[in-house]
Amino acid sequence: MVKICCIGAGYVGGPTMAVIALKCPSIEVAVVDISVSRINAWNSDQLPIYEPGLDGVVKQCRGKNLFFSTDVEKHVSEADIVFVSVNTPTKTQGLGAGKAADLTYWESAARVIADVSKSDKIVVEKSTVPVKTAEAIEKILTHNSKGIKFQILSNPEFLAEGTAIQDLFNPDRVLIGGRETPEGQKAVKALKDVYAHWVPEDRILTTNLWSAELSKLAANAFLAQRISSVNAMSALCEATGANVSQVAFAVGTDSRIGPKFLNASVGFGGSCFQKDILNLVYICECNGLPEVAEYWKQVIKINDYQKSRFVNRVVASMFNTVSNKKIAVLGFAFKKDTGDTRETPAIDVCKGLLGDKARLSIYDPQVTEDQIQRDLTMNKFDWDHPLHLQPMSPTMVKQVSVVWDAYEATKDAHGVCILTEWDEFKTLDYQRIYDNMQKPAFVFDGRNVVDANKLREIGFIVYSIGKPLDPWLKDMPAVA
Ligand code: NAI
Repeated sequence: MVKICCIGAGYVGGPTMAVIALKCPSIEVAVVDISVSRINAWNSDQLPIYEPGLDGVVKQCRGKNLFFSTDVEKHVSEADIVFVSVNTPTKTQGLGAGKAADLTYWESAARVIADVSKSDKIVVEKSTVPVKTAEAIEKILTHNSKGIKFQILSNPEFLAEGTAIQDLFNPDRVLIGGRETPEGQKAVKALKDVYAHWVPEDRILTTNLWSAELSKLAANAFLAQRISSVNAMSALCEATGANVSQVAFAVGTDSRIGPKFLNASVGFGGSCFQKDILNLVYICECNGLPEVAEYWKQVIKINDYQKSRFVNRVVASMFNTVSNKKIAVLGFAFKKDTGDTRETPAIDVCKGLLGDKARLSIYDPQVTEDQIQRDLTMNKFDWDHPLHLQPMSPTMVKQVSVVWDAYEATKDAHGVCILTEWDEFKTLDYQRIYDNMQKPAFVFDGRNVVDANKLREIGFIVYSIGKPLDPWLKDMPAVA
């Protein structure tokens, strides 16, 4: 029986391995992690991450051919194929701080593999890594190998949180990069055979190692760039009276452009886009390509601009002060159908409003108070480390309360900010919300989920990203 071990039981390691176990009953899959609480959660009824469909998949395989364990050494030493799906945070100190990927966790995983292996292994990079990481890993493994042979493959993951199970069941493509030697190609074939249990052959792409590594960074950069492009247009739409949804539709019907990923919003978030672009920028700089680095940096700058523009709109609309005003924040996760808050735009928007002394009442159907408090007090990039190594929040933010209902959040509020596109926000009883708010009552829709005209009929002053401005907002000072 082929044995697979995955180091790192996170948003990627957990779901990908659960699907491999489901689709390949003849393969035994162990997912290991240094975080005891994470592994305990994977072995409980309350999985550590929320992902539609994940529960069902885990329940079908757990204890049969899918195991979660903290015994990293045992499972690595028994495995034929070792996936590495550990954190690759942005460095906060030293060379490349603020941009380069911190490969501490990757390197320590590689050293464990070298230390405990007693048989030849295929080592698969699942984490997103800088181009040429495989070369460094190869060196660590071969210099510590005691004669054991390792083949390194790059197999970046393209799943999107919120639709991870669907994406894994039916991927647009699976990408496998390997050395162009007979041994390298044999390893590529072995991994291809795993995916071939359910992925059509023409969707399994094989490349050299460096192309696979770079393709992941490039794909995320292209995706984020589309969002920043439409968000840049949203600012121009507001200035000119154009409607960003109409512009995006008109642009997206061009088959060369396509309609997906063209929704204007308060900004992109998630653990990967910013981190991977910063990493790309750093690699460009290191390779003497400052113009290319500058080009990609702009994608992040527009994203930051979009978040601060939103905060400025809120404050400017409310007579240039939100001091001591209650503002309801609906949605904190970086997108709907996930509880993940990593790099969510809600963090920067909330911090901006708190900077202007607002009182915030936050509701998100999937995010806990503890998580929100941690996010609002943690330093940038500290979130991307194993849980037990993250700094504890020193204090709670007193001006923030977290409630479990949108009506409670909006009661007596002066304004409502919608920061995540959860479906339930479309169908709230906005008349009831209006009746219980201070007047004038404002809605700032950072995801374009509400019907602005209906809300205006009720009496709200509504700001929708990239849409023709409410007469009230037109009279307010211009937003920089
Ligand atoms: P995560 O933070 O959810 O999971 C990483 C896990 O690795 C943690 O549970 C941590 O405790 C564990 N870990 C770290 N060092 C370890 C070690 N030496 N031994 C054992 N366990 C260790 O991170 P996530 O989101 O799963 O991301 C993992 C990688 O996949 C990152 O490189 C990320 O950029 C990439 N990725 C993430 C995607 C996403 O949607 N979250 C999508 C595609 C790629």
